Amino acid sequence: MVKLKIGVIGAGSISDLHFQSYANNEKVEIFAVCDLNEQRAVEKKNKYHAEVTYTNYEDLLKDPQIDAVSICTWNNSHAEIAIAALNSGKHVLVEKPLCKSVEEALRVEEAVKRSGKVLQVGFVRRFGTNTNVLKSFIDSGDLGEIYYAKASILRRLGNPGGWFADKERSGGGPLIDIGVHIIDLCWYLMGKPKVKSISGNTYSKLGNRANIKNLSFYQAADYDPIINKVEDLANALIRFENGASLMIDVSFTLHVKKDETYVKIFGDKGGAEIEPELVIVTEKNNTILNAQPQIDSLSFDFNQAFQNEINHFVLCCQGEEQTISPVEDGVELMKILCGIYESSETGKEISFERSNVTI
Ligand SMILES: NC(=O)c1ccc[n+]([C@@H]2O[C@H](COP(=O)([O-])OP(=O)(O)OC[C@H]3O[C@@H](n4cnc5c(N)ncnc54)[C@H](O)[C@@H]3O)[C@@H](O)[C@H]2O)c1
Repeated sequence: MVKLKIGVIGAGSISDLHFQSYANNEKVEIFAVCDLNEQRAVEKKNKYHAEVTYTNYEDLLKDPQIDAVSICTWNNSHAEIAIAALNSGKHVLVEKPLCKSVEEALRVEEAVKRSGKVLQVGFVRRFGTNTNVLKSFIDSGDLGEIYYAKASILRRLGNPGGWFADKERSGGGPLIDIGVHIIDLCWYLMGKPKVKSISGNTYSKLGNRANIKNLSFYQAADYDPIINKVEDLANALIRFENGASLMIDVSFTLHVKKDETYVKIFGDKGGAEIEPELVIVTEKNNTILNAQPQIDSLSFDFNQAFQNEINHFVLCCQGEEQTISPVEDGVELMKILCGIYESSETGKEISFERSNVTI
């Protein structure tokens, strides 16, 4: 069997889930690792038995042996590296968000079309077992017409700092970092309706709260308590052309009693909660039923979802499947994310109606 040779670009925290999942896939050889930080690249090369390391992604892309790359770098380099990889004839799995702006997203989409290569956006929540179980109920009509969804990830103290807090490298705060996951999950389960309008607000009221004592939180490797250029809270109401609507709020920090994550979908025949754990709500014989699927993990299982995502990417690269997370969806998500930021900046609703496209 000819194995797919993989290069991983960006060898920080999330790359481990890519490496582990590739290592578990017998159709793959982990071949190259690239990071601006040479020591980090060498550590991952040794840990995952790769052949070569690079500190410049352009050098990695010159190697004709490499078939596909995972891009696990800061958000500001996703578009540039994805386009260069596609132009070098590589398939691409790019971490979320696809990039920082709609303009960049459209350039990536153009490069995908030109190259004919696979590009999969790392919307990993689509690959959760709880997501797939719920999707099978939605696809068989059990929820009926989905007209509303509501999702929230509220951290009371959780600005990771480092590049996450540097707008230039990240593109924004909790909205682009964690909001992207729940917006995508709802939008995907709602059947990917066309966006009609967006009204959003962002707030930078509390800063990164580096002053807080005796309560630990995840900090990026390059954490610096002084630097923070991103919002601490974002909320939005997104209207779709089919009449459905989605409400979200996300925070890096907020005066909330405890951290909260929920994702809820509502149709005219039934509803569902997917976070914190899957439950399907319906009505039968004049009785409301809360039905709990009997599956191993009712919540999002990180390791399993990454394994499913990578296995699917590998099959797509081998021409055996079509990606369920294509570049067009990355472009739509960038329209939504940037629309929320623009609405917040201008204090106005952003309209995407065909006669009045503002983005
Ligand atoms: N799917 C998920 O659930 C999930 C979770 C966490 C992070 N992410 C995404 O993964 C990406 C990386 O996040 P992370 O938490 O691993 O960050 P990280 O800071 O731990 O790692 C990023 C690495 O990329 C390297 N890097 C940056 N620019 C580079 C370039 N041009 N060339 C080579 N190396 C470069 C950095 O040196 C660093 O080692 C981000 O886009 C983030 O949004 C996704």
